[in-house]
Amino acid sequence: MKQPERLWSETNVSDDKPLGLAGGWAGPRTAVNAIACWLAPLALGEEARAAALALLSPDETARANRFRSERDRWRFVAARASLRVLLGQAVGREPGRLGFILGPGGKPELDGFPIRFNLSHSGDWAAIAFSSGGEVGVDIEEVHFLDDLDGMISTSCSPREAAALAEIPPSERLEAFFQVWTRKEAYLKALGTGLAKPLESFSVTVTPGMPPRLEEGGDGAVSLMDLSGLAGYRGALVCLRRCDSFNVMSAVGIFGV
Ligand SMILES: CC(C)(COP(=O)(O)OP(=O)(O)OC[C@H]1O[C@@H](n2cnc3c(N)ncnc32)[C@H](O)[C@@H]1OP(=O)(O)O)[C@@H](O)C(=O)NCCC(=O)NCCS
Repeated sequence: MKQPERLWSETNVSDDKPLGLAGGWAGPRTAVNAIACWLAPLALGEEARAAALALLSPDETARANRFRSERDRWRFVAARASLRVLLGQAVGREPGRLGFILGPGGKPELDGFPIRFNLSHSGDWAAIAFSSGGEVGVDIEEVHFLDDLDGMISTSCSPREAAALAEIPPSERLEAFFQVWTRKEAYLKALGTGLAKPLESFSVTVTPGMPPRLEEGGDGAVSLMDLSGLAGYRGALVCLRRCDSFNVMSAVGIFGV
């Protein structure tokens, strides 16, 4: 398998005590509370599609077959197979032999291994994040025109976020909204509770140039980072613990064809 290429990395010095590694973690970065995020392409060629499909479980194959759109079906196959390859590498097991279970809020977990992971897909890319300690959530979105941006802001943002977005020039507001959206979604996905926590009950930073941060309505330590590097996409990653090391890598070519 082609080695993932590192796109970007950052190390935050934590003043917490070392947190220890979750058992089973053997990822590329083994610093305490290391977070790794791969960007995996979903538009695969024919050979890579066949290799990806061969890794899926019967349940996943059945789910893939329920997609009406062929493009969406292959995107799903590519995302699940990429997750299997990268998780298999991390825990030292054949990708096709990994089993998944669902947490209480429906968040997928790896059966038999304590590694924390999360997946997001949009357009032609998936983001797959692993954490050696602390629940992780990731979200990416392809930026696209929204018919009713103001309506989206009022239904998905807190009053504080909506006020900050209103200060941003209209020509920059759509991009800013997608950044806010992915930060909020990544936080919900780290919690694993879906929309049980209302979107207006917490706020993230909004103003371009301000560091990504959960500003109100969160509990405990929350590390929030933006995913950059994919033109036309916005993304964010949350870990419910202090983050010591954060690396973003490319998983282009992981099926070896
Ligand atoms: C399902 C949900 C977790 C994310 O959905 P999404 O953004 O449409 O899709 P993503 O591609 O980012 O994530 C899907 C993946 O998240 C994972 N996932 C599913 N349920 C999850 C949960 N409760 N917690 C964390 N991750 C979950 C799965 O791996 C899923 O992959 P799959 O489709 O291959 O099964 C859920 O939070 C949701 O419906 N959110 C939409 C809410 C919204 O309107 N947000 C706007 C924010 S401003």
